Amino acid sequence: MPRLAVLASGNGGNFEALVMALRSAPSPHECVLLVSDRSEALALSRARGLGVPALHIPWSGQTRTEAEAELEKALSSVGAQLIALAGFMRLLGPDFVRAHRNCLVNIHPSLLPKWPGKNSIRCAFEAGETEYGASVHYVDEGMDTGPVIAQSSFIPEPGSSLETIEERMHEIEHSLFPLTVIELLDRIKARGED
Ligand code: GAR
Repeated sequence: MPRLAVLASGNGGNFEALVMALRSAPSPHECVLLVSDRSEALALSRARGLGVPALHIPWSGQTRTEAEAELEKALSSVGAQLIALAGFMRLLGPDFVRAHRNCLVNIHPSLLPKWPGKNSIRCAFEAGETEYGASVHYVDEGMDTGPVIAQSSFIPEPGSSLETIEERMHEIEHSLFPLTVIELLDRIKARGED
């Protein structure tokens, strides 16, 4: 059974969408772990409510290498084969990224390579963009720079508010991310790695 682990720093909307989609998909994939770098992240409470093992690993008060060693241990203890970053707002170190190349994916609320980094929707909105979208990409050593796997775009009504665009973005993400992750888990299963 292909096993997914999710890293999230905040709200956890994408995490929950992933879990719900995995549970309703015909293929037997499972989300086996949610890790957050923030003890107060809503994602941790969502995980507990959904019955997904949840773990807080602090990135502050220890070095990134120490935090990533802890993360590595947790991932291998559950046998995670794919790691999804769902609003995980930290840059992972080059060693960690290299160790998980092609098994580490991120959702980002822009049509990459446009608007990488933080506050992407607001930056695009303030720049007067007319087309928006979300991207799922493999994680590399850069900030939102890895190869894009899938994108989904939309054109808001002229005059739409930032809040309306953000809402639509989250709807788009909650369908694009699970679809893409399930496809990647299906490939792992087809290769017989589970
Ligand atoms: C999502 O919009 C995600 O694309 C974004 O953070 C939000 C997390 O929401 N990620 C990034 O900007 C990564 N660079 P969520 O906690 O409700 O899933």
